[in-house]
Amino acid sequence: MDRIRIHGGRALNGTIPISGAKNAALPLMIASLLTEEKLILENVPRLADVGLLQYILGNHGVDITVAGKRAGDEENAGQTFELSAKNIVDTTAPYHLVSKMRASFWVIGPLLARMGEAKVSLPGGCAIGTRPVDFHLDVLRALGGEIEISEGYVIAKAKNGLRGAKISFPKVSVGATHAALLTASLAKGESVIENAAREPEIKDVADCLIAMGSTIEGAGTSTIRVQGRDKLNGARHSVLPDRIETGTYAMAVAMTGGDVMLAGARDDLLVAALDTLRGTGTKITMTNEGLRVSRNGSGIVPVDVTTEPFPGFPTDLQAQFMALMSRAKGTSRIRETIFENRFMHVQELARLGANISLDGETAIVQGVEKLKGAPVMATDLRAWRNHGPPRLSSRPWLRAAGAEARPLRRLDRAGNRLIRV
Ligand code: EPZ
Repeated sequence: MDRIRIHGGRALNGTIPISGAKNAALPLMIASLLTEEKLILENVPRLADVGLLQYILGNHGVDITVAGKRAGDEENAGQTFELSAKNIVDTTAPYHLVSKMRASFWVIGPLLARMGEAKVSLPGGCAIGTRPVDFHLDVLRALGGEIEISEGYVIAKAKNGLRGAKISFPKVSVGATHAALLTASLAKGESVIENAAREPEIKDVADCLIAMGSTIEGAGTSTIRVQGRDKLNGARHSVLPDRIETGTYAMAVAMTGGDVMLAGARDDLLVAALDTLRGTGTKITMTNEGLRVSRNGSGIVPVDVTTEPFPGFPTDLQAQFMALMSRAKGTSRIRETIFENRFMHVQELARLGANISLDGETAIVQGVEKLKGAPVMATDLRAWRNHGPPRLSSRPWLRAAGAEARPLRRLDRAGNRLIRV
């Protein structure tokens, strides 16, 4: 377990480069399974999830070359991956890997489409809700896959290949939309995806699939049409900037005050969240370099939010916004509608002195004058990200995946990483 010691109470100032989006990079890496040719991905973020997916894809036979750093590259500059799935040697994704990162379940569609079979473990539990995969299985069935669930694994077969179909989701799902897009790209004929997720990461993946030879219309809207191909070709694609990382830092500045440039960030990727932040009294301007976020000493204005699928306020920024509201001058109500259990951070914020009560899917946050440091646990996926270099000693699969060892940041005597803000 990593520990970070934070000395708070200061304004944030400076420039932070924004990484490539994790939630686009993962499905883009999985898209490499769809072609025998090389897929080159630029601006891939340096994250433990990416390292783990490298390892998982490696198990299937994908060769991944990571281009070395160029002179002048920042420590956290995006990586360039060359992925070649010329020879898929194994169509099984085991439990001990899939359970570590849910998105690795998404390999099932591309493996089935390309190889006619796949055996992938069900992902198991998750800290933010039950997160079933029934829509994913519906996608595979609609496209002609035969599905059996046995001993915790989904076994999918399509001896005569997949064929295009109409897929209509009962609820908007990012992952199931990715699954439908990726799988339908290699299914014969046209597929129509209705009630599709409209997240920017869906559009980014569709753009890459189009560069690989797919014909896709409507990505970024709720109806997507895909003309399946027998084969896809290689391509080069650059991962879009991470809107959740952008929003997280923007909220940190809103909370502490200060003036920060989020280099490379794009305001069109998080309009709802930025509008909400402006409502709290934070100044946000789009410049040629990125997003400039600042707040002077004035109080934080409370704002109510409800999480929604894109273009609404993202669930992945809910915990961060709650932290901000815990210092607001008044009461705000935060409603979580995407995941039923995404309030684990409430009790941790209470340890810092926040005043929050829960009423079903709504948190009522009464702002307090000051928060005070305390030991807390990072429970939510987005209340805590492993953005730093993975500790290779405790993550042998990363070492096996060729993740580079880098010196750990400075530690204090108790073994905490020291970060001063
Ligand atoms: C994606 O998860 C993101 N992950 C999540 O980000 C994000 O919180 C979530 O979308 C919502 O925006 C990645 O992109 C890798 P969903 P996903 O399917 O695709 C229900 C992060 O921090 N549902 O859109 O798993 C589900 O339970 C992560 O980076 C079904 O009922 O989420 C939820 O209520 C956390 N059956 C709703 O749909 C299914 O088969 C939306 O979930 C699938 C989903």
